Amino acid sequence: MSKVVVYDIIKQMILDGKLLAQEIKNNVKESAKRLKKKPLLACIIIEGNSASEIYVKSKQKACEECGLSSKVVRLPKNTTQKKLEKEIENLNNDKDVTAILLQLPLPSHLNSVSAINKISPEKDVDCLTYKNLGKVFVGEYDIAPCTATGIIRLLEKYNIELEGKRAVVVGRSLLVGRSVATLLEKKNATVTLCHSKTKNLKEITKEAEILVVAIGKKQYIKSDFIKKSAVVVDVGINRENGKIYGDVDFEKASEKCQYISPVPGGVGPLTVACLMENTFKLALKNNKN
Ligand SMILES: NC(=O)c1ccc[n+]([C@@H]2O[C@H](COP(=O)([O-])OP(=O)(O)OC[C@H]3O[C@@H](n4cnc5c(N)ncnc54)[C@H](OP(=O)(O)O)[C@@H]3O)[C@@H](O)[C@H]2O)c1
Repeated sequence: MSKVVVYDIIKQMILDGKLLAQEIKNNVKESAKRLKKKPLLACIIIEGNSASEIYVKSKQKACEECGLSSKVVRLPKNTTQKKLEKEIENLNNDKDVTAILLQLPLPSHLNSVSAINKISPEKDVDCLTYKNLGKVFVGEYDIAPCTATGIIRLLEKYNIELEGKRAVVVGRSLLVGRSVATLLEKKNATVTLCHSKTKNLKEITKEAEILVVAIGKKQYIKSDFIKKSAVVVDVGINRENGKIYGDVDFEKASEKCQYISPVPGGVGPLTVACLMENTFKLALKNNKN
């Protein structure tokens, strides 16, 4: 088969997150025009993590694109838990701020669960407070964690049936794995959640019709972990020598699966787009816009 033909086949099976992200941002831009007051997203960043700096910049850029306001609260690397939680409280009390995002991960001396739960649930745009996660688990929610929402939107965009499907999620962080497993279950998939202590991982992933991987290990999932004709969503972002790699060995995996999301250009842009959508939804709900 010629290279051009192979490339065309791969293109057909790509879950294009960039394209969908642009659609979502365009919708937010249009909808936000109708609000009386511009939503304001406040991102808190603890200095010293270069990846976090990139993510926060891209979130600010997306706000600009969507006609939303944003501001960044920077705290030094050695900031204390008390200082961090005080900043969160200030943002909770700031009437202009409609959404608060604490950029993760935090340095190891800080407790992220405690800090996240200081965010007012009405401004918790990543939907990670106990109250908002609880609503997601019960199935009564307006917003859900951004990355998990993006993954479901991507699958729906490509008309991938979820009901009754065997789904396997590798990685159980609240931010990604556990949240997406919950949303898949809400869509009536039968879900298995795997983690670093899972035995015989390959045997489990090989049963997946839908496989979502979020572990943070460069190209860990090889083609022999994947069922033929599976749908594979690669959440991983692994930076090496200025390049970004997913958690899945894309080249080999794409020979086997029906659909696959690329890295970059898959879930990443959708996380940002869904953050914009969540920012809009919170402003609409809480500002009586
Ligand atoms: N595309 C996006 O928008 C986006 C958004 C968020 C995160 N990410 C990326 O997604 C990846 C995961 O992020 P995260 O925040 O979920 O990371 P995390 O909090 O470090 O969680 C990683 C999870 O993977 C599991 N794991 C690690 N090694 C494993 C292995 N060999 N086999 C099976 N499970 C394994 C861990 O298991 P234990 O619980 O047992 O430790 C843990 O549950 C990272 O590359 C991150 O950069 C991307």
